[in-house]
Amino acid sequence: MAAGILLVSIAVTGSAGAQSTAAPAAGAMAHSIVPAPASLTMNAGAPFRLDSTSSIVVDNNAEAARTAEMLAALLRSSTGYAIPVLTGSGKAGAIALRVSAAATGEEYQLSVTRDSVRISGTAAGIFRGMQTLRQLLPPAIESDMLLGGTWTIPALTIDDRPRFSWRGAMLDVSRHFFTVDEVKQFIDLLALYKLNVLHLHLSDDQGWRIEIKSRPRLAAMGGATQVGGGPGGFYTQADYAEIVRYARERYVTIVPEIDMPAHSNAALVAYPELSCSRRAPALYTGTEVGWSALCHDNEQTYALIDDVVRELAAITPGPYIHIGGDEVEVLTHDEYVRFVERVQDIVARHGKQMIGWEEIAKARLRSTTLVQPWKGDSGVLALKYGAKLIMSPAKRAYLDMKYTNATELGLAWAGLIEVADAYNWDPATFQAGVTERDIVGVEGPIWSETLRNITAVQYLAIPRLPALAEVGWTPQSGRQWESFRLRIAAHAPRWNYLGVNYYRSPQIPW
Ligand code: ACM
Repeated sequence: MAAGILLVSIAVTGSAGAQSTAAPAAGAMAHSIVPAPASLTMNAGAPFRLDSTSSIVVDNNAEAARTAEMLAALLRSSTGYAIPVLTGSGKAGAIALRVSAAATGEEYQLSVTRDSVRISGTAAGIFRGMQTLRQLLPPAIESDMLLGGTWTIPALTIDDRPRFSWRGAMLDVSRHFFTVDEVKQFIDLLALYKLNVLHLHLSDDQGWRIEIKSRPRLAAMGGATQVGGGPGGFYTQADYAEIVRYARERYVTIVPEIDMPAHSNAALVAYPELSCSRRAPALYTGTEVGWSALCHDNEQTYALIDDVVRELAAITPGPYIHIGGDEVEVLTHDEYVRFVERVQDIVARHGKQMIGWEEIAKARLRSTTLVQPWKGDSGVLALKYGAKLIMSPAKRAYLDMKYTNATELGLAWAGLIEVADAYNWDPATFQAGVTERDIVGVEGPIWSETLRNITAVQYLAIPRLPALAEVGWTPQSGRQWESFRLRIAAHAPRWNYLGVNYYRSPQIPW
C-alpha cells in the first residue's frame, strides 16, 4: 500500500447516499478497501463508469464464470443495467475476469482505467478481487432496490495477496443453534472481508448439531435444546452439504469441530454409557464448562469417535477435522495425552489433518496437525513437532467479548475488546517463542452463550471481524489504525444496505 496515505470514502455514490465529494487532495487516497490491499496505486486518469452498455467477460473457465455471475447479480439489482456475462475477448466497457496460470494462492491484480476493468489471478484471487471491486463502488451498489446514480470506479492498479493463508472465524452453533440461512449470512460477511475459513463448533455440552447417520441419537437426542432452553436443532447431512457448497463458491473452507473429550454432554445424553462426567448426562441449558467427559478408557468411546470422524470426513471437502480438546478437568495429564494421540490417529486414518485448541500440544503431534492458542502459551509446545499455529488469543481475537462494560451481548472473561484492541496486534510477535513462520494465520471465535440469532452475532462481529480480516490479510507494514478507522467508517452505509447489524464504536468517525 502506498505510504502515508489515508482515505475517505470514494468519489461518487448512488442517489441514496451522499453526493460526490471533491477530488481528493494530492497525497490522499480515495478508497475505503478493507482489508487494505498489499499494494495500490491511484492513477491520474478518468474513472471507469458503469452504464447500460457494461458487460462482464470471462475466459472459458467455470469458476471465473460463476464469480462473474455473482458480480453481475450484485450490479444488476442496484443499477438496473443488463450486465451480460460473455465468454471471450471483451470490448471497451467490459469488466474482464481472467484466470492467470502464473498466479498462486489467492493473489489477484486489479486494474481500472476509463475504458475497462480487469481482474486477473487464481480463481480464488478473482473472487477476492471481486470483493475489492465491490468496495470501490458506492455503498448503494449493495442495494436490492433499483437506485439511480452514477456508478464510477476510480482509476487505479492493485496488486494484492494475503499475508496469511488462514483467515478464519468460528461460529458456535451449539450454545445457540443457527439456521442454514443464518450461517450463509455469516459466510457472506466472511466473503466481503476476504476471510477464507469458517470453523463450525458443532458440538458442546448444550447441543449436538450434525446428523451422524450411523449414530442417529447424537443429533436427535443431543440436538434437542440449547442455552436457556428452546428447541435447539441440528443440520442434516444435506444441510451441511449446502453450507459447504455455499462456502466453497466463496472460497471459504468449512472446518467442522466436534469437541472432545470434554464439552461432550450432548453426546453423552445419547450415549450415557460413555460418560466419565462429574454429573449424570441430561440435557443441559446452562453455561458452565469443564464438567463433562467422554470416558477415555472405554473402547466404545473410540468406536463412536471413529463413526463420527468417518462420516464428517466424507462430507467435508476441506482437509481438516477439529477435535476441540479444550478445558478438560476430568482426565489426568497422561489420560488426556493418550486420548488426543489416539484421536489424532483416527483423524489421520480418515484422510484428514487434526486441529485442536492449544491444550492438545501436551500430546505428541504430527507435523500436519494445527494447534489453536486461545488463552495462554501452551501452544508453543506444538512447534517442536513442526506443527503450526492458528492464532486466536482471546484478549484480541475472541469476537464474543464485550466491547465495553455497557455492551449488553457477549462475555467479558478475557477482557473488553474495543475495535482498536481487535486491530492493534501482530500475530507474529504476540506470543513469546512464536514467529511468523510458525503461524498459518488468525481466527476469530464467536461463542454464542448470549447470542440467540445472527443479528446478535453481527453486532459482535462488526466491525471487529473486518479488523481481524485486515490483521490476517494486510502486510504488517501496510496497517495503521488511523487509516483503518477512516476506511471502516465508510462501510456503515454498505452494512445498512446489506441489513447487517453493527456496533457504532465511538472509536470510529462514522
Ligand atoms: C475455548 O474458548 N474454550 C477454546
